[in-house]
Amino acid sequence: MHRILGKQILSPNVTRLDVHAPRIAQIRQPGQFVIVHLTENAERIPLTIADSNPETGAITLVIQAVGKSTNELVALNPGDFIRDVAGPLGHPTEMIESGHALCIGGGVGTAVVHPIAQGLQQRGVQVTSVIGGRAREWVIFEPELQRYGKVVVCTDDGGYGRKGFVTDAAKEILAAGKVDIVYAVGPVPMMRAVANLTRSLGVRTIVSLNPVMIDGTGMCGGCRVSLGNETKFACVDGPEFDGHLVNFDELQDRLSTYREFELRSNACASGKCRMETAPASPA
Ligand code: NAD
Ligand code: FES
Repeated sequence: MHRILGKQILSPNVTRLDVHAPRIAQIRQPGQFVIVHLTENAERIPLTIADSNPETGAITLVIQAVGKSTNELVALNPGDFIRDVAGPLGHPTEMIESGHALCIGGGVGTAVVHPIAQGLQQRGVQVTSVIGGRAREWVIFEPELQRYGKVVVCTDDGGYGRKGFVTDAAKEILAAGKVDIVYAVGPVPMMRAVANLTRSLGVRTIVSLNPVMIDGTGMCGGCRVSLGNETKFACVDGPEFDGHLVNFDELQDRLSTYREFELRSNACASGKCRMETAPASPA
């Protein structure tokens, strides 16, 4: 059992939970995730480890409430317990050891960018972060990322930071040159747009994919993604991949299929139906 140590509402549908998981807090690396199992028969929810504190044994999970299970998770309060937290899972982020990295976070994906920027800065890499949200209240992790380098904030409505998508600001930074690698995490259209920007410039681009995950062990095939002619499993081969090779159309199609299940499971949670819950898409 894992006690909730802290809780913070980060944006209208994004919540931070600090969870006691001392072994994971000691050994986790940037890019890795856990699978959370709230109760015995609950759905398994994959979540990136956004941060950790080896001294307190806390890991930081950032949850976008989109379905029944994620809504149950964000309803927890300090002192409550999560039954199982399995991890750390997945490959650590491919890091450069010097030079300049551009870290791009869209919406809740900014929480996934945080440990990457943290790891890069610890290696002595110059980090520039570009983060965005629909409006000011959707921008998350700005103060945390400021610890690691310059942060450019973008909002769709221009009410905070500069107006526009993260890709608009990223395009200008890339045009100025001297970017050795790009890390991009956020909605699929954002990651696709970033990959399209950097492809012609020849800048290596790592994206973190969030297909539906079920077992998290490479057995079920639920998280399969296509990279060029290869099929990979995000849970064991990823979740980060070369953005220039990812088949984003296929990823978007598979996520759309499961969105219908999420809507149904929300209806079940509100007592409007008796259908089973669906597999989880990672936050
Ligand atoms: P959102 O839709 O509010 O977008 C956040 C920001 O992304 C926008 O403000 C904009 O700057 C940028 N963006 C959005 N669409 C874009 C486009 N077409 N071109 C360029 N930039 C664009 O994001 P949200 O609601 O916080 O995130 C939702 C999505 O992110 C979900 O689908 C979720 O599954 C996904 N997600 C992905 C990961 C991952 O590991 N890849 C992690 C968490 C969440
Ligand atoms: Fe089952 Fe990855 S979640 S193979």
